[in-house]
Amino acid sequence: MSNTDATHAGAYSRSVLHGGYHHPLARKYQNQGRNVTKDMFMYPIFISDDPDAEEVISSLPGQKRWGVNKLEGFLGPLVKSGLRSVILFGVPMKMKKLFLACDVCLCEYTSHGHCGIMSSLPNPVHSDQPTLDAEASAQRIAEVALAYAKAGAHCVAPSDMMDGRIRAIKTALMENGYGNRVTLMSYSAKFASSLYGPFREAAGSAPSSGNRKCYQLPPNARGLARRAIRDAAEGADILMVKPTLPYLDIVSDCAQLEPDHPVAVYQVSGEYAMIVAGAEKGIYDLKQMAFETVESFVRAGASIILSYFTPDFLVWLDEPEE
Ligand code: PBG
Ligand code: ZN
Repeated sequence: MSNTDATHAGAYSRSVLHGGYHHPLARKYQNQGRNVTKDMFMYPIFISDDPDAEEVISSLPGQKRWGVNKLEGFLGPLVKSGLRSVILFGVPMKMKKLFLACDVCLCEYTSHGHCGIMSSLPNPVHSDQPTLDAEASAQRIAEVALAYAKAGAHCVAPSDMMDGRIRAIKTALMENGYGNRVTLMSYSAKFASSLYGPFREAAGSAPSSGNRKCYQLPPNARGLARRAIRDAAEGADILMVKPTLPYLDIVSDCAQLEPDHPVAVYQVSGEYAMIVAGAEKGIYDLKQMAFETVESFVRAGASIILSYFTPDFLVWLDEPEE
C-alpha cells in the first residue's frame, strides 16, 4: 500500500458506511443489542360477554371479539408459535401458559363512557357538563384492579389516566397480599389521540358526550408526559407510552427518566388500521412497514410492545432476514 493510499484510507475510512451493512446479518448487528423478539409482544384481545362469540370487528381488520369458549382454540396455535403474553379487554380468565394482563378502566362499563366517576361539583369551563371525581375514580379503579388480581391476572394495567390511581391500586394490592405477585403496568403517558377510534368501536367505549381531553394528555405536552412518569414513584412496575409512532420522543424521555423500569408502548388500533390501509393501497409492503414501526419503538427504548400485529410478528420473526 502506498503512502498516498494510506492517507486516503485514513481520511475516508470512517465515512464509508455501506460495508458495515451489506450482508443481512451485518444489518442485524447494527441494532446495538436491541433486537425485536417474540417475547416483547403482548397481544390485545377483546372478550365478548357471549361465551361462544367470534365476531368480526370491521374497523380492526383481522381482529375479532372472542367468547371465552373460543379462546383456547384461537390462542393455542399462537402459543405454539411463541406467543407469551396477552392483554385482555373484558372478562379475565386463567390461561396458564400466558402472562395474563388485564386492562383496568371504567369506560367500557359506565353509562356515559368516560374512564372515571363523575363529580357533583360544578365544571368551571363547561357549566352544562360534569367533570371527574378523581378520588372516587381512583378508589373504584383500585377495586377493579384488585378483583382482576384475585381472578388470577399476572398484571393489571390501568388505562384511565386518573390522578392518584397508581398509588391507590398499589396500596390495594399490598393490603390484600398481592403486592408481591402482581405486576402493575401503568398507562403513564397516554395522549388524547385520534387513533383510538377502532378500539372504541371494538370495546363499545366511546364517550356518549364530551371527550377525554381533561384526563388524557394534550398531544403537544412533552413536559406533562415527563411529569406523568411519576407513576414509577407511586409503585408502577412498567411504564407505558401510548400511542407510539407519533410519540417516540416521549418513549425516549421515559426510558431516560426511569432507566430501571421497562418501557411498554401501545401501537394502538388507529396505528394498526392505518398501516393495514396503507398496505392495501399499495403505498408500502405490510411486513416491511410493520417492522419499520416496531424497530423505531425498540430504538427509542421500548422493551414491551402491545400490538394487534402480534400474531403476524410470531410468523415474521421466524422468516429469514432479507
Ligand atoms: C380504555 C382504553 C382505550 C385504549 C386502551 N384502553 C381507549 C380510550 O382511551 O379511548 C385504546 C387502545 C387502542 O386504540 O388500540 N381506556
Ligand atoms: Zn377508559
